[in-house]
This record gives sequence, structure tokens and C-alpha cells, in this order.
Amino acid sequence: MNTLIRLSLALLAMAMLAANSIAAASVEPYILTPPAPASPRINGASVFGVRPGSPFLFTIAATGDRPMSFSAQNLPQGLKLDPATGRITGALAMKGEHIVMLGAKNSRGSVEKKFRIVCGDQIALTPPMGWNSWNCFAQEVSADRVKAAANVLVKSGLANHGWTYVNIDDFWQNNRGSDDPTLHGPFRDTNGFVLPNARFPDMKGLADYVHGLGLKIGLYSSPGPWTCGGCAGSFGHEQQDAQTYAKWGFDYFKYDWCSYGGICDGKAATDDSISSWDAGEKGKSDVEAATHPFRLMGKFLREQKRDIVFSVCEYGMSEVWKWGASVDGNCWRTTWDIVDTWESMSSIGFDQQNQAAPFSKPGNWNDPDMLVVGHVGWGKPHPTRLTPDEQYTHISLWCLLSAPLLIGCDMTKFDAFTLSLLTNDEVIAVDQDPLGKQATCVINDGDLRVYARDLEDGSRAVGFFNRSVKPMELSFKDFSKLGLAGKQTPRDLWRQKNLAAVNTAMGSLPLTIPAHGVVLYKFTTVK
Ligand code: GLA
Repeated sequence: MNTLIRLSLALLAMAMLAANSIAAASVEPYILTPPAPASPRINGASVFGVRPGSPFLFTIAATGDRPMSFSAQNLPQGLKLDPATGRITGALAMKGEHIVMLGAKNSRGSVEKKFRIVCGDQIALTPPMGWNSWNCFAQEVSADRVKAAANVLVKSGLANHGWTYVNIDDFWQNNRGSDDPTLHGPFRDTNGFVLPNARFPDMKGLADYVHGLGLKIGLYSSPGPWTCGGCAGSFGHEQQDAQTYAKWGFDYFKYDWCSYGGICDGKAATDDSISSWDAGEKGKSDVEAATHPFRLMGKFLREQKRDIVFSVCEYGMSEVWKWGASVDGNCWRTTWDIVDTWESMSSIGFDQQNQAAPFSKPGNWNDPDMLVVGHVGWGKPHPTRLTPDEQYTHISLWCLLSAPLLIGCDMTKFDAFTLSLLTNDEVIAVDQDPLGKQATCVINDGDLRVYARDLEDGSRAVGFFNRSVKPMELSFKDFSKLGLAGKQTPRDLWRQKNLAAVNTAMGSLPLTIPAHGVVLYKFTTVK
């Protein structure tokens, strides 16, 4: 190719990129989520799994004016409710299912909601919801920032929509090479127990603080000698580490492959040439080698006397969705790391999830990585580079995919738009639907992608997505592809409004889908 042609192609590519960002930049944030009513409304998961003997903590998530009082009829023996906070605590001795009627009451009225407690082997019966420190703070995380995040979850009202976990990612341990003095120190005590760095002086105290707010707390390590960021990993100390996390009171644990790549490829743990972040080669295709460290840690976590959600993180190598459940994983990353661009979010969401969909179910979820709305930036937070419509796409798609929902932003910098994205209870209810059926792509036509999933109440949630930089106008008629027949009432989930019923045999549905945006409907058969 001669230089002139190459130059013209480069200019053309730059022009296309510019057109893309002009289209992207021109839309101001616009809020669709209606404010929650002043009367009580119980939100969040309607099913909760716990193992026999494990400490039980479930906070009833409810919006509406405070003060509010809570009730729970038919609570099984061993559990008690604090009527002022809505926290249910205690323990269940035996396996079994219990249908409880939750209640919430304030000066504006009262409401009830059926809630199913399943005491058995499985936990995380709906995808975990919460926050994780990585996408905003990365190596700058500290106990103070984690406490601040927990406080915001409560004060912003997010906890009233079911957001529960406050997860510390990498950099709570000491580091192998950083020149930051707060990351210097022994990795383990003389008995081999892991030591947190100076920014985390009291792990048990931190966990107690978060539990005291009715929330749960998560931690992070790697099966290799080093985490991706070069902090102390768990290699050779797996059992001790599982015991330590349980002793401190952690409820969630992300185990991130990273330097295990070197071990898996045959290097000794003491070999200094093991890179912290190199995933290596063997784990990409050798299933036995890839599963080994997760099976080991899964077993040690299960031996603890508390329920610890196990998040397997190895970027989707060796088709983790096929074996994640067999190592007791409650969720597993299906992809490399997300960043806050349309290219990253849309290719992860649209191009990499379909093959994994059949393996997702209550207790075992595909994880397309954390959310990139709000102020993100891996130590240098900036407002997300996703446009408002791209953010609607991100949240809608992740909810359709039954993804664990982990907010990745600096929550002390919340704005009204970001909060509105994270507090739409009808959209969140798709993610948290107890049936746990991940949506699949039912139409892939040009720039149109349509995802559909069954919901427990017999309805179907459908997301119509537009991957182009121009708005899309459709007169939609292909209802059989959505699995819909007869007369259907569409409900716009973002606006929380019913639309006129449509006869799927001869009618059509007018749709305007914004550039890189979505229309998210729930279809209910008219009886
Ligand atoms: C990997 C993971 C990220 C994060 C970092 C921490 O890149 O995929 O989610 O945990 O490591 O170093």
C-alpha cells in the first residue's frame, strides 16, 4: 500500500472516530428513573440463600420516608428481626425453605413482600450487588476510603435498593516493589498468617464497622505468590488465608489468577522472575491446571463457619463458565478487564457473553466485570467516558445478563444522573430475578441487538440495543423471535410506565433507540 493511500485511510479512521465522539458528546445526561415514592416500597432480592450454621445477615432494602418500621412474619427459629433497621440476623441450624412475609411501614402507609429463605448448600441465589475499590481507587485504596464508601452506600440511599457488598480489591496487602512506604512491610507474620499494610491497621474493626451499617464486606487475593499489582498473594498459604478472612469477618472473596500464570507454567514461587500480572500460557487451555488453585481455595472457604461468596477471576480462560460451579465459584469473570469506553463495554457485553449464558444460574453467575459509571479511573478518577446512553446500555445489559453488579466509581462524587442509573428498582429487579435466567441475544441484525430473558412471574424482559452512532427508528414486528405470542403489555422499565398493549400476531411496536442506547421493556401477556 503506498503512503498516500495509507495516509488517507488514517485520516478516514480519525474522521470516523471524531464523528463517533461528536455523536457521543452531544447528549446531556437525562434522568429516566422516577423518584421512589414516600410510601414504603420493599426492593431488592426476594430470595436469599444461607448455609446451615452460618451467621445470617440480611437487611430489608426499602425506600420511603423515615422513620420506617419493619416486620417479618413466619421468620424461622434462629432468626430475629430488628424492627427499627430491618436487619435479620441469627443462624439456621437445619436445611430447609421458609416463606417469610416482610413488612415495612411509615407515616405514608405500609407494604408487604414475600421473601424466600433457602437454607442449603447454595449462597448468592441472586447476583451479588455492591461496590468494589478497583475501578476508582486501584492502588490508592485505604480503610478510610472503604469506610467512606460504606457510609455513602447508606447515606445516598443505595442500600435501600439492595446494594450490599463493600469490596476491597488489590492493595490491602504489602507490595513487592512499590516505593510507597505505606505498602512496605512484612507480607506475613512468623507463623505465615497474612498481614495487611499500614493503610488497613484493623481488618476485623473494618469488617465490624461495615456490618454495623447492615452491609457486607469483601476482600481480594491471588492464588499466585503475587497479586496483579505485586502485593502478597496466597500461594502456599491458602488454608491460613481462608481462615484469616473468616476470622476477620469477610463475606465475599475475589481470587485473581495473575502471577499464578508463572506457577502454572512451571516456575518456582521463589523465582523472582515471576511477573505479577502475566497470566502465562498453560491456564488458557489446560482445564485441569486452570481449575486447581480455585478448587483448593473453594474447599478452604467452604470449611469456614461463615458464608463467603467466592468470586473466581481468571478472565474467562479455559471456558471457566463450564467449570466455575464445580470449584464452588459463585461468580466467575468471563472477560479481561473492562475500561470506561464504548469499545470495551460494548465488546464485553455484546460479543463475549452469549456462549457462557447457559451456565449461569442461582448461586453461579457469569461476571462481565464491574460497572464503569460515575467517577472511575484506577487511582486517577475522572467522570466516565461513556455517554449517558452508553451508560443506560451498560446497566440494562448487565441486568439482562444476570451480572454481579459492582459499582466501580468513587461514590463520594455521586451526581444525580449516576444515582438515577443505580436506583431504578424495576431495572435492578431484572438482574435480581429469582429465576436467574441470563438473557441471550435473540436478534443480531446489523447494528440492532435484542436480548431477552424469562422472569419468574412469567413475563419476559427484552432489551433493544442500538450499536450505531445514529438513533434507530423501528416498527418492530418480530415478536416470535422474542418468544412472545398473543396480546402483550410492554412496560418501559427505565420510565416505569406501561405502554399500549400490542397484538403480536398483526401489530407492531414503534421503537426509537438512541445512538449506542437501549429501550428496555418487560412484556406481560394480557389475560
Ligand atoms: C486484575 C483484575 C482486576 C483487578 C486487578 C487488581 O487486573 O482483573 O479486576 O482486580 O487485577 O490488580
